[in-house]
Amino acid sequence: MVDVNTEDILILALETSCDETSAAVVENGRRVRSNIISSQIDIHKKFGGVVPEIASRKHVELILPVVGQALEEASVTLDQIDVIAVTYGPGLAGALLVGLSAAKALAFATGKPLVGVHHIEGHIAANYLEHEKLEPPFICLVVSGGHSHIVYVADYNDFEIMGQTRDDAAGEAFDKTARALGLGYPGGPLIDVQAGTGNSFAVDFPRVYFSDGSLDFSFSGLKTAVLNYLNSNAQKGTEISIPDVCASFQQAVVDVLVHNTIRAAEQKGVKQIALAGGVAANSQLRSSMKKAAAEIGAEMFYPRPVFCTDNAAMIGAAAYYGYKAGKISGLDLNAIPGLKLGSACG
Ligand code: KG4
Ligand code: ZN
Repeated sequence: MVDVNTEDILILALETSCDETSAAVVENGRRVRSNIISSQIDIHKKFGGVVPEIASRKHVELILPVVGQALEEASVTLDQIDVIAVTYGPGLAGALLVGLSAAKALAFATGKPLVGVHHIEGHIAANYLEHEKLEPPFICLVVSGGHSHIVYVADYNDFEIMGQTRDDAAGEAFDKTARALGLGYPGGPLIDVQAGTGNSFAVDFPRVYFSDGSLDFSFSGLKTAVLNYLNSNAQKGTEISIPDVCASFQQAVVDVLVHNTIRAAEQKGVKQIALAGGVAANSQLRSSMKKAAAEIGAEMFYPRPVFCTDNAAMIGAAAYYGYKAGKISGLDLNAIPGLKLGSACG
């Protein structure tokens, strides 16, 4: 175990795992002093998804100005920073390497400790930034473009995966369905808006529950069902209602997410449920989960949308608890695109 500073801790955090170049300054894991996010969404939009090579090149251009801006907005100099934190996986290899190289260079040049952070642990920690009283144990549903996990957060550095997707991630299902409907990218927020005026009972899309008691998810059949529905109506020349398809699709995803998360909370006997990741911004998911949590006497937590999608402040929050537990990385820390939750930090 490494001796760590237990006074007030200022962390400079970097996040470049996908298409957001972000840097933040976070105080004691809970207070955001700055959180700069430079999104590449407009660049990737025309390709209908993230193009890894373009993402890496953009991160290279943006990372140093974004770090500079984060320090400036927090009114601190690099000297005043105690710890440098960075996402080292999972994510796109080339994209991760940009943030990692910048963080390692900063740590080497200043002699400050480096803390590598798991991206999903970052998403979970986004809740600490917004909810002062939230402390483990709790159940966290992490739903993003690349992940759908039900995580039992036993302690700040102790995670148990209770369920995960066997095929598409929840956000991926939103993005692919939106593409099939010709709505654009990223699909989640666009479907969310369309669904607001649609009827969620209009089309009976499938919900997959595993009979062996598993809390895993499967969304690829749902995506295929939407495609079949669109194709068969196109063949018949029947006009469809996009808001109705969006509302019915969204309800099918939300029903499964809520059902399995509530079962996980009941199994662990916890009374706190948190949401995290880009799909946690979904209005239907928030309202349905809140209602279901109330029915079992549990409290619901979720971050504001800016802390749901990728950002460096959440990495700073997670790094604080890792640092306090002595999880300091060497300068040989490498990007691990397929990093599993709960892996030892290199
Ligand atoms: O966490 P995130 O920014 O990136 C990953 O780590 O994947 O999540 C992005 C995902 C995209 O799939 C996007 O469509 C989805 O989050 N998303 C939403 C909403 N806002 C973003 N999905 C459903 N409803 C939303 N309001
Ligand atoms: Zn993410």
